[in-house]
Amino acid sequence: MDRTTITGGTPLRGEVQIGGAKNAALPILASTILGGGECVITNVPRVVDVVTMGKLLGILGAKVHHEGNRAVINAEVITSTQAPYDLVKTMRASVLVLGPLLARWGEATVSMPGGCAIGSRPVNLHLAGLAKMGADVSMEHGYIRAKAKRLTGAQIYCDTPTVTGTENLMMAASLAQGTTVIENAAKEPEIVDLANFLMKRGARIDGAGSDVITIEGVRELQRSDHDVIPDRIEAGTYLVAGAITRGAVTLNRCRPNHMDALLMKLREAGVEIQVEKEQIHLNAGSPLKGIDIRTLPYPGFPTDMQAQMVALMTSAEGTSVITETVFESRFMHVEELRRMGADIKVEGNRAVVTGPSRLAGAPVMASDLRASAGLVLAGLAAEGTTEILRVYHLDRGYERMEEKLRGLGATITRHKEGTAPADIH
Ligand code: EPZ
Repeated sequence: MDRTTITGGTPLRGEVQIGGAKNAALPILASTILGGGECVITNVPRVVDVVTMGKLLGILGAKVHHEGNRAVINAEVITSTQAPYDLVKTMRASVLVLGPLLARWGEATVSMPGGCAIGSRPVNLHLAGLAKMGADVSMEHGYIRAKAKRLTGAQIYCDTPTVTGTENLMMAASLAQGTTVIENAAKEPEIVDLANFLMKRGARIDGAGSDVITIEGVRELQRSDHDVIPDRIEAGTYLVAGAITRGAVTLNRCRPNHMDALLMKLREAGVEIQVEKEQIHLNAGSPLKGIDIRTLPYPGFPTDMQAQMVALMTSAEGTSVITETVFESRFMHVEELRRMGADIKVEGNRAVVTGPSRLAGAPVMASDLRASAGLVLAGLAAEGTTEILRVYHLDRGYERMEEKLRGLGATITRHKEGTAPADIH
């Protein structure tokens, strides 16, 4: 398995270009199953999860051509409605084919995604919503089996805002008979990007980005092209890279207006930030102070930036309390940061960080995508060399991360040692 070594202590300086949003690209690619013919999707990040979604669409019979950051998909005709376990277990977001398959072909068999390092990750809200739309949903031998002659519009209330749940239901409702209202819908920018793509293809959607989304079903969707929005979590990760090394970095091709909570929290910690329409300039010369953070569904502070901020707060003066309210066990990075000399105590869903700590490089183990990013950031600030094992987790959501960090002056090297194991969640 690959590992990455980092020699820390260099303030990062320079510009970095932000790629397309993984969590927008995944539902957008899945939505091609709703038909209409060949769609050209650009600004698609070249990350493992997106390649996996392309493989899944191929298994279902779609024609998939993925070159650089451009994907050409034709799912007009598919030959299977089964998403197999050995693929779904490598990427939970495979569940995003459930709604489109059911809506377009009247049936779907999708392996239960299973839990992962950050929590049990249930899909009960996806299934309850589809059942309300008239689907016959059952669980057999670890597979979700869903059937419906034609889905009908329904009034759906989600107990908790679910990003992929909202996306699944919005896609399914696009071809249902009648009108669907999703209440307590998730409001992430990635949901708006998916809705924009669906509307370009003839879907009738109102309210995407708010907590009430109304979808009037149509008989069929047309083809369209789409340019995926920039990745706000990749952007946030490079901002923290600049802040934790007390450097000065500029992000190009990003969307500051998708990052309000993070930008406010970085400013509260003492980081200087100027924003333009598609650029962010960060300067972290002065000492940082500890702050409190509570992760929440969008527009609250993103849980996908929690590990990165825990790493940053180890270098801030004072105490920071970071509360994780979205997932039940998303502190896998804490033990590894403590091995680097961080002073962090986990009490239930809160991590209490006391700083500043002078982190020391050490061999550490990555556990999930964003925890791995947190360890890279700590390595950039630590004295000496940090070796990160199981670094394949990073490849799921960050395109060319080592190259982009080297472009900012980091001393970071990827050591290729064989391939990742099959069951990465
Ligand atoms: C999406 O996951 C993202 N993944 C995650 O990003 C992100 O962390 C998460 O949203 C929260 O923002 C993609 O978009 C592909 P949820 P998702 O359903 O949709 C509970 C990354 O690093 N819930 O919004 O799986 C659930 O347990 C990944 O890029 C139910 O109870 O998350 C959690 O507590 C990690 N029942 C909360 O809702 C359900 O049916 C939010 O989960 C669904 C969810």
